[in-house]
Amino acid sequence: MYKAVISGVGSYLPERILTNQDLERMVETNDEWITTRTGISERRIAAETEATSDLAYQAAVAALQDAGLTATDLDMLIVATSTPDYQLPPVASLLQHRLGCRPISAFDVSVTCIGFISAMETASQYIQTGKHKHILVVGADALSRITDYADRTTCILFGDGAGAAILSRAEPSTDQGVIHASTHSAGEHFFSLYVPGTGSRQMMPEEAAKKGKIIMEGRKIFKLAVTSMSQTVKETLEASGYDQADLDWVIPHQANQRIIEAVAHNLELPLEKMVSTIKYYGNNSAATIPVAMDTAIRDGRIKRGDLVMLVAFGGGLVWGSLLLRY
Ligand code: ACO
Repeated sequence: MYKAVISGVGSYLPERILTNQDLERMVETNDEWITTRTGISERRIAAETEATSDLAYQAAVAALQDAGLTATDLDMLIVATSTPDYQLPPVASLLQHRLGCRPISAFDVSVTCIGFISAMETASQYIQTGKHKHILVVGADALSRITDYADRTTCILFGDGAGAAILSRAEPSTDQGVIHASTHSAGEHFFSLYVPGTGSRQMMPEEAAKKGKIIMEGRKIFKLAVTSMSQTVKETLEASGYDQADLDWVIPHQANQRIIEAVAHNLELPLEKMVSTIKYYGNNSAATIPVAMDTAIRDGRIKRGDLVMLVAFGGGLVWGSLLLRY
């Protein structure tokens, strides 16, 4: 089997910053509550003229540049998003055209906040079998478009952004590349985090009155997140023949700093090994992991050869992890 190695990464965050102080003027909240309960100080919000494909495009261009590739080198592209520009067709088609790719296979995956992990897992299969050489994987979301800015329990958490990685084929002898991934779904928790009044249920009487914004049972999701993320890291390590002590870095979904800390505690990992960007960007769903990965590679923390665990949970409930050697 070939190896699927990360050959380039990139990210893009919109310019507009929404601070805790801004939110104090919008809902009954305060900086101290938000900071201590979530670890978030600010988040980025896409301009009115920016859609998910625009965020994805900027991140993709940066990743191509980092890999030293051009768009015509790509054999496939996958966009993970829950906030596509339109209900159909996929963001991936817009991106394929705008980047100037050949008429390659391009599709979206919708797996909420684990979307980037699921897309990386899928892409790595195409590379490892030898079918493709270079695949672009993007996680991009504009959660501000489905956030209710009158609901203080959710609007303090979410933001917009995009991150991208290119997986490239390498010889089986290299020790770099994707090692193992585990992904799961437990639909009995479906309505603990969802966007009512959208999709093919929008005409149903019980949905019609609702408004197309995220509804969430925060406390329940918090507990499920800690348990599922801790469990999936252990399962992926076990399947790969590694243990916690071997990990150089964990890149967790950025949903709440207290979730990140609880997972580190459960796994008996020092907090310094958990990459966190939540303070500045909040939760931008499928983008959190590739943005954090790009940040930690660029600032020199993650180096070639490091063992890195990606781990996430999201609405569905879905959860998963992916182990790679950078
Ligand atoms: N400002 C001030 N007070 C608030 C705010 C706020 N923004 N929000 C809630 N409160 C109040 C509540 O009303 C409650 O008051 P009460 O005790 O008088 O009833 C009190 O603060 C405590 O509320 P809790 O919900 O228990 O607060 P908690 O510590 O659980 O924090 C939070 C809430 C931040 C939502 C947390 O539960 C959380 O992060 N959950 C996970 C959510 C998540 O990660 N969602 C994303 C999933 S990924 C995806 O798919 C998009």
